[in-house]
Amino acid sequence: MNRKFILSLFLCFPLGLFAQTTVSVKNDQDAPVINRNIYGHFAEHLGRCIYGGLYVGEDSEIPNIDGVRTDLIEALKDLQIPILRWPGGCFADTYHWKDGIGPLEDRPTIVNQWWGGTTEDNSFGTHNFLNLCEELGAEPYLAANIGSGTVKEFADWIQYVNHDGTSPMADLRKENGREKPWGVKYWGVGNEMWGCGGNMTPEYYANLYRQYATFMTSWDNETGLYRIASGANVDDYHWTEVLMRDVPNSLIEGVALHSYSFVEWGDKGDAVDYNEAQYFSTMQTALKMEELVTKHSEIMDKYDPKGEIDLIVDEWGGWYEVQEGTNPGFLYQQNTMRDAMIAGVSLNIFNNHSKRVKMANLAQTVNVLQAVALTDGAKMLLTPTYHVMEMYKVHQDAQLLPVEFDSPEYTFEGESLPAVSVSASKDSTGVVHISAVNIDSEKENEVEFDLSGFDIDDFNAEILVSEGLQDHNTFDEPKKITPSEFKDFKFKKGTLKMTLPPFSVVVLESK
Ligand code: AHR
Repeated sequence: MNRKFILSLFLCFPLGLFAQTTVSVKNDQDAPVINRNIYGHFAEHLGRCIYGGLYVGEDSEIPNIDGVRTDLIEALKDLQIPILRWPGGCFADTYHWKDGIGPLEDRPTIVNQWWGGTTEDNSFGTHNFLNLCEELGAEPYLAANIGSGTVKEFADWIQYVNHDGTSPMADLRKENGREKPWGVKYWGVGNEMWGCGGNMTPEYYANLYRQYATFMTSWDNETGLYRIASGANVDDYHWTEVLMRDVPNSLIEGVALHSYSFVEWGDKGDAVDYNEAQYFSTMQTALKMEELVTKHSEIMDKYDPKGEIDLIVDEWGGWYEVQEGTNPGFLYQQNTMRDAMIAGVSLNIFNNHSKRVKMANLAQTVNVLQAVALTDGAKMLLTPTYHVMEMYKVHQDAQLLPVEFDSPEYTFEGESLPAVSVSASKDSTGVVHISAVNIDSEKENEVEFDLSGFDIDDFNAEILVSEGLQDHNTFDEPKKITPSEFKDFKFKKGTLKMTLPPFSVVVLESK
């Protein structure tokens, strides 16, 4: 090798001039809009998600609005949380909504049979949840009890929250202090009906779904109802096939899908103290979401070629062993850079599949599973996952810019995963946003974006990165991981080049 060549190699590599990966970004006017509801959340009566998390009660010393902690309300508003699913999860099919309305002293207690066997006093009910959604500016998504409820109970709930005239349930609502209906559009017809919702077969549930959906009266033609069928567990394609085959399109607006990321279902490992093998398997399950939404969408395409029914990923996120010393039924876990990686790649997948995927709900909002916030008494911290969702909120309601590229590989003990994940969008003012993730635990990756079809002068960028993969925010150091300015990129003549550090998330905004 001659000296000149060696010198040019030496000069070029540190500047990132030899990009390993070229991402072509298409300015496609026909591409779908990324539904803001892809950035949705899920809050269940589980552990300290509602009681002792969101809801501390009006008499609490912790500052609150109608019993919901103010710091959390502010944090969720900053996320521009578009939609919130409640009250479950498995809890939904045990919940009788009338237990949670009316004077507090008259409300019966219940035992949370799925989650820790705790006794709840029903102080957080329908009014509290729907008022909270109004405060947040978020759409409520109510998951109804099909497993142990009745058609009448469900129909009454809809009348209670949506009827604007004189009717038994509207009158009851008014007696309980709420004159105007809330106008709830999104309704889940049961949850995980293949499991905790009743261990049903898809054929049985499809019939039951038809029955319940028939008695779901909108009462308000402006809002209308958006009915979501309880969907498949991970890769149970048969479930989706039967639902799409047996439920007439006129009775359904969305089909759900649940898929969590973990090391192994039977041995989930610690949320913080994990090794590379465990990190790799978690990312394997997270990236499987690409295959899941592709295959479930293909089945839906067959029965619904016009794309009228949406795929709703209403539970996703990382699931590990509970933090030592905490109630096993409370699913409390810390949140590290691994969770930031799960959030980044999952949201990119949902964005890129936004033709069919119209909603996704991270499990769960606070103190449970892959939470965006953790609380300890009056203290609250925002997790790395929060920061990813905050950085990505720019994609809400923006037009997708389809991307094409071959990712470099992240290899561990002979197995490989795509290291780089990307999605891009253009908002209503023409600003382009690109979100890029490098999941490789050790290697940086150089990525080049071909943006020749765009009129862009330059970019601003933010990065979420940390020194250690297991790094996380604690109550003593709540700001260890926060986004910072990202400078390691160059934009020239329509080409954007950058070096993504190991396990990092970058979001760029065009100028
Ligand atoms: O999010 C925790 C639980 O996971 C939900 O209650 C259930 O739907 C799922 O299995």
